[in-house]
Parts: sequence; C-alpha cells; structure tokens
Amino acid sequence: MLNVALPKGRLGETVYELFAKAGFPCPALLEKSRKLTFENREAGVRYFWVKPSDVAVYVARGAADIGVAGKDILLEYAPDVYELADLEVGACRMAVAGFPDRYPPMGQTVHVATKFPNIAKTYYASQGRDIDIIHLNGSIEIAPILGLSDVIVDIVETGKTLKENGLEVLEEIVPISARLIANKASYKFKREAIEKITDSLERGK
Ligand code: PRP
Repeated sequence: MLNVALPKGRLGETVYELFAKAGFPCPALLEKSRKLTFENREAGVRYFWVKPSDVAVYVARGAADIGVAGKDILLEYAPDVYELADLEVGACRMAVAGFPDRYPPMGQTVHVATKFPNIAKTYYASQGRDIDIIHLNGSIEIAPILGLSDVIVDIVETGKTLKENGLEVLEEIVPISARLIANKASYKFKREAIEKITDSLERGK
C-alpha cells in the first residue's frame, strides 16, 4: 500500500482527478466529510489530505511515500525528497510585485514582505541587492499598500489580487507548478509501485 499525501484545497481536487484518471481512483475523497484518510485497496493506495505546505514534511519523514507539492514549497523549504514529475497543474509564477514608482533604486535596501523568505533571499542575492525581509503568513499584498514594505515576493496566478489592489508584477522569479515527490527510502523499497503510479500520471497529462 502506498501512502499518498495530497494538498487540501483547490489544487488538491485537480490533483486527485489526475490520480483517478491514471487508474488510482478513490471517489470517497471528494465527499464532503471530516474524514482524513481514504483507501483503495485494489489500486494499492491510501490517500490523505494535508495542508499544501505540509505535504513535503510528511513525505520527507516517510509518513507518506509520495505526495504532491507546489514547486514554491520545494524551493522554499528544500525538503530531502525526490522530485519525480511535473504534473503541469496549479500553474502560476513567483514574482516581485509592487508599485513601479516605489521600487528603491539600485544600492538601496529593498524591504520585501513575503511568505517565502528563502526564495526572496536567493533571488535578491542573485541580483546583488540587499534586502530586509518582512515575513508574513498571508494577505501579503497589503504590505506595500500600507507602507510596511517596498515590494512583495509572492505567487501570482490570475493576477487578479494584484490588479484589484493597484499593484503590478515588477519582476518574474520562477514559474511554479505541482510536482510529484517521493520519500527517498520509499523510492528504494517500493520502487515498482511508485514508478507505476509516476508513469501512469505522466501518460495521463
Ligand atoms: C495566493 C497568493 C496571492 C493570490 C494570487 O494567496 O499569495 O495572494 O493567491 O492569486 P491571483 O493572482 O489569482 O489573484 P492565497 O489565496 O493562497 O491566500 P493568502 O494571501 O492568505 O496566502
């Protein structure tokens, strides 16, 4: 039996459809309930929903053999897992956003509000710019509006949140999408089952 960690929420339902299409269905997963784990014994999978940012923790520690996590989480936390496939869903981008006329000139420290401090640090180090990180947990777009930061480093999907708040993408950092990840020991000991599910998911894309 493979333990599979799926990200709760919008992305999770899309991801589950990919697994179902690949031959690993478990319709009970989509029923409205408080249940957290679901099995399809014949297909050899046990699914469970966790917070998107926690999937990599379950997989890295082996509580899940495989899981689906956004590339944003993998870049930010660098968990010790294998990245097996780009599932090509949940596409968005990591970007610097703010008011174009308020970007501090080269040579000045940039005050950056973000949920992704490591991604922001790596990006600005590559640009040779000093930054001051303001680590927030959500609604990041408010920070430049209230003058808490000069810019934000955040996920942009449709761009609607930025637009409705008068903000713009100033720089693109990296494209993001959902990735299939595996625990390293599981990949060794349950390789056949993991490869079967990976190949089926790749074929169904
Ligand atoms: C994410 C992200 C942006 C928004 C982008 O936030 O942090 O705020 O989605 O989507 P859009 O470009 O389609 O408008 P999320 O919904 O995860 O909530 P949060 O702000 O509380 O983190």
